[in-house]
Amino acid sequence: MLRGRQALGGVCLSLGRSVRLISRAFLAAVPVFLIAAAAACCIFPPTIEPSSFRVVQLSDLHLPSDLKDSQSHTWVCNLKAAVSEINAMQPPVQFVVVSGDIAEHNGEAGSYKLFNSVVRELKAPLYVALGNHDRRSAFRRYVLQEEAASEAPYYYSFSQNGWHVVVLDSTQPGSAGGFLDAPQLDWLRRDLSKHRDLPTFIFLHHHSVLIGVADDFPLRNAAEFVEVLEGFPNVRVVANGHVHHSLILEVGDRYFVNTMSLAYGHGDDASLPGYRIFEVEPNGKLRFYDKRLHQDPVEEFPSNG
Ligand SMILES: [Fe+2]
Repeated sequence: MLRGRQALGGVCLSLGRSVRLISRAFLAAVPVFLIAAAAACCIFPPTIEPSSFRVVQLSDLHLPSDLKDSQSHTWVCNLKAAVSEINAMQPPVQFVVVSGDIAEHNGEAGSYKLFNSVVRELKAPLYVALGNHDRRSAFRRYVLQEEAASEAPYYYSFSQNGWHVVVLDSTQPGSAGGFLDAPQLDWLRRDLSKHRDLPTFIFLHHHSVLIGVADDFPLRNAAEFVEVLEGFPNVRVVANGHVHHSLILEVGDRYFVNTMSLAYGHGDDASLPGYRIFEVEPNGKLRFYDKRLHQDPVEEFPSNG
């Protein structure tokens, strides 16, 4: 099953195909998104304050189950390149979160085996949220190495560097859209209640604020989710994938962060595959960086949601 391993041992020459994000017609309709997408000016600083820390969000890897064509090879090479870049960052990245769609086709075993073969090189701790292209039982079997892999939702939290981090499972088997059921929302409410004193990141796959991309398949009960958050102003960031598009919205004191795909984008606007870097300063200030593969990171500035 690890046919990919030989290919991975070869040279990843491709920089990744140019990707298209949103149609020009759509851009004309919603110029506010252009402002956010184009808002970049500052090169990523080579060093940061010792008490600052960095977090990387990868999303929508869409790894194939094997390397039968050049596109599949490119997407695996993209992950390999991202791991290499992250490992080289100084100071080291504190942790990495993959916000879903590890797999391209309904959570095939080969996709997770390819994923394992690449991310084992990652030096930073890795956390995963599942996406609509993933399959809970396959992920549990092949990535978590669980013997009795179930279809139970996969959500959890941890605290690090004075921050709390929540990873949710918004997948709804058989649907491209997302949903957080009552038990998970109850758990979220209890978990946030226990950590009111800590600024908090929440990572999940689906978007809870409509942005004009993939809006037919959002988090379907976003209103319930946002209602839970209203009691917790310490939730500073809600970061998702799914939309294959980079856009940060500032809503009150909270940022809703849509992170680009490491494989491909949607629509007609061309851009390279990439990922997001969060930099957290000691005073709690957040900086966001749009990092395209093989290019210097550029700082992004949120638009008002
Ligand atoms: Fe995706």
